[in-house]
Amino acid sequence: MSRRVIAIDGPAASGKSTTARQVAGRLRFVHVNSGLFYRAITWAAQRHGWIGEASRLCKGVAALDIEPEVRDGILSVRVAGQTPGAVLQGREVSRDVSAVSAYGFVRDRVLSLLRATAEVADIVCDGRDIGSVVFPGATLKIFLVADVKERARRRLLDFGGALSDVAIREEAARLEARDRADSTRERAPLRRAADAIEIDTTEMAPGDVVQRIVDLAAERGIEARTG
Ligand code: DC
Repeated sequence: MSRRVIAIDGPAASGKSTTARQVAGRLRFVHVNSGLFYRAITWAAQRHGWIGEASRLCKGVAALDIEPEVRDGILSVRVAGQTPGAVLQGREVSRDVSAVSAYGFVRDRVLSLLRATAEVADIVCDGRDIGSVVFPGATLKIFLVADVKERARRRLLDFGGALSDVAIREEAARLEARDRADSTRERAPLRRAADAIEIDTTEMAPGDVVQRIVDLAAERGIEARTG
C-alpha cells in the first residue's frame, strides 16, 4: 500500500518538530522527527567514546541496536535497549550531532529506518533532507525558516532559560554554527527542495503555521485519516 508523506525541513530550531507533531495530530498521521535518530546515535557515540574516532564510530553504529517505536502517533527511538528521553535535546548532544550526522554510514542507517517507517504508516517527517533526499516523492514538502534571533528566543523559552540579550546572542551563535555545518556537509546537506513551499514563521503564531500546512495538504487531497 502506498503511504503518504508530508516532509517538513528547515534549519535548527525553526519550529519543525512542534509544527510537524501538530500537523500529524490534525491529520492522524504519525509524527517522525528524523533529528531524533541522529541525536540517539550521537548520544550512544558519546557514551562509548566514539566521537572523533571515525572507524570506531563506523563499527559501533553498524552494531548499534536502533528501534523506532510508535506510541500515540508519535515516534520515539530506542537505542541499545534504552529510550534516552529529554537528554537527546540537550546542549551536549546538540554540540556533536552535526559532526556525527555528516558521516555517510550514519546517514544511510537513518535513511533506511525512515523509509521503513513510511512503509507502515502515513507520516509527517521533519528534518533537513526529507524533501530533497529521503522522500523526494513526498506529497507535500514544506521548508520552514525564521530569523535566527527569533529561533534562539524560542529555543531558550523551550528550555526555560533566561531571555537576556546575551543569552539570545549566544544561542543564536550556536544555532548558526549548526546550520553552517548542516548546510555545507557533502552528503544530503540542509537545503530546500526545488518543489518545497517556504514558510517564514518569524512573525507567525504556531497555530497559523499548522493551519497553513493543513490547508496546503488539503489542496493536495490529504485529509485527516478516519480509521
Ligand atoms: O532537528 P534537530 O535539531 O533535532 O536535528 C539534529 C541534527 O541532526 C541536525 O543538526 C543535523 C542532523 N539532521 C540531519 O542531518 N538530517 C535530518 N534529516 C535531521 C537532522
